[in-house]
Amino acid sequence: MPTKTVLGIILSGRGSNMQAIVDAISAGRLANAKVGVIISDNPNANALTRIPASDIPRVCIERENFKDKASFEKALIKELRIHHVELVVLAGFMRILSAEFLNEFNGNVMNIHPSLLPAFSGLKAQEQTLNYGVKVSGCTVHFVDDGMDTGPVILQQAVPVLENDTVESLSERILHVEHILYPRAISLFCEGRLKVVNRKVQILEKPEK
Ligand code: GRF
Repeated sequence: MPTKTVLGIILSGRGSNMQAIVDAISAGRLANAKVGVIISDNPNANALTRIPASDIPRVCIERENFKDKASFEKALIKELRIHHVELVVLAGFMRILSAEFLNEFNGNVMNIHPSLLPAFSGLKAQEQTLNYGVKVSGCTVHFVDDGMDTGPVILQQAVPVLENDTVESLSERILHVEHILYPRAISLFCEGRLKVVNRKVQILEKPEK
């Protein structure tokens, strides 16, 4: 049996993408991955209690318990290492990670963002989208670099922006697609089919030897 890539999911809130990833693994759509640990920086994150029947370790590491960002990130790294994490999956994690953190995992850190990057990076992407008045939006899965939503794009999928959309209705339409796209991008990674060349992500037919 091929070995499974160990994921470490880091989040701050609701956890619907985490849930979609866990569900995709259970359903066999992401059979080449397993979740080693779920880390939240927020003790009130729904995500910490969202999958009660699961035996996945869940840990809360709060930023305010550390004197600076470097020591907070050290604690994250320690926890991820304890669980032998190979791919760090950010799923609604509300902090920017340093280059030092990213280097620890050789850049094997992914994020999902609710817009078609590079449009509408940063906070409140759906609100920015509606305020600008574009007719198409969507979501982006990308590798993380030390900028704000600037890393190499892995997958994107568009959704329409409708005339009478609210932030809630647009967010819901995008979220539905996020839940499909994120497990798919992770699966490509686990199959060894993502190669970054000159900042561009190539999706290989077959993994390179
Ligand atoms: C999603 O919209 C994701 O694109 C963004 O943060 C939100 C997280 O939602 N990065 P959830 O916690 O996965 O439900």
